[in-house]
Amino acid sequence: MADQPTNEVVKPVQPQIAAAPIPRKPKQDRAPEEDPGIWRMNRRNALWVGGWLAFFGFIITSTVGALRYMFPRVLFEPPTKFKAGLPADYVVGEVSEKYKDEKRVWIVREKDGFYAIISICTHLGCTPRWLPSDNKFKCPCHGSGFYKSAINFEGPAPRPLERAFIGLADDGQIEIDRSVKFLYEKGEWGKQGSFLEYKG
Ligand code: FES
Repeated sequence: MADQPTNEVVKPVQPQIAAAPIPRKPKQDRAPEEDPGIWRMNRRNALWVGGWLAFFGFIITSTVGALRYMFPRVLFEPPTKFKAGLPADYVVGEVSEKYKDEKRVWIVREKDGFYAIISICTHLGCTPRWLPSDNKFKCPCHGSGFYKSAINFEGPAPRPLERAFIGLADDGQIEIDRSVKFLYEKGEWGKQGSFLEYKG
């Protein structure tokens, strides 16, 4: 029996055209998401750099720590003991300010001897001024006043100025030691070293 003709339309077969390959950008122009290899490389580089930074950070910190240990931060203050010239260099009745700035000490010459006053206000530590015309020390910060003897009489200073050790060195010069203090309120102004007897 002959084949019966059908109404089915036979569509022509379209030839498969292979898609043209997309040209890739040069490696240096590719973004990390376009090339996971680059991303991996960057991460690896970052880890490498981070490792070195951590290593150098450790070395620097250790070196600084070692140097601090070998050379601790010490405040080198000028020596507190010093010679202040011959007694004859001083005028009876005067307050010498020669060592006030450098050593923070006034040297007071009286008829029968010397005493040394530390030039630090007993209120909050300012440096008072000697006012010869008023015969007193006056603190510029809050107005405390001290007699020539160093006893406080006005303002907020709670106690007299402190006196420092004073004596005579072997060579005949006056010797002061600011680290040895004598406090009036403790009855120390009568102690040896708080006053240098001298009648010259
Ligand atoms: S510091 Fe001298 S009166 Fe206050």
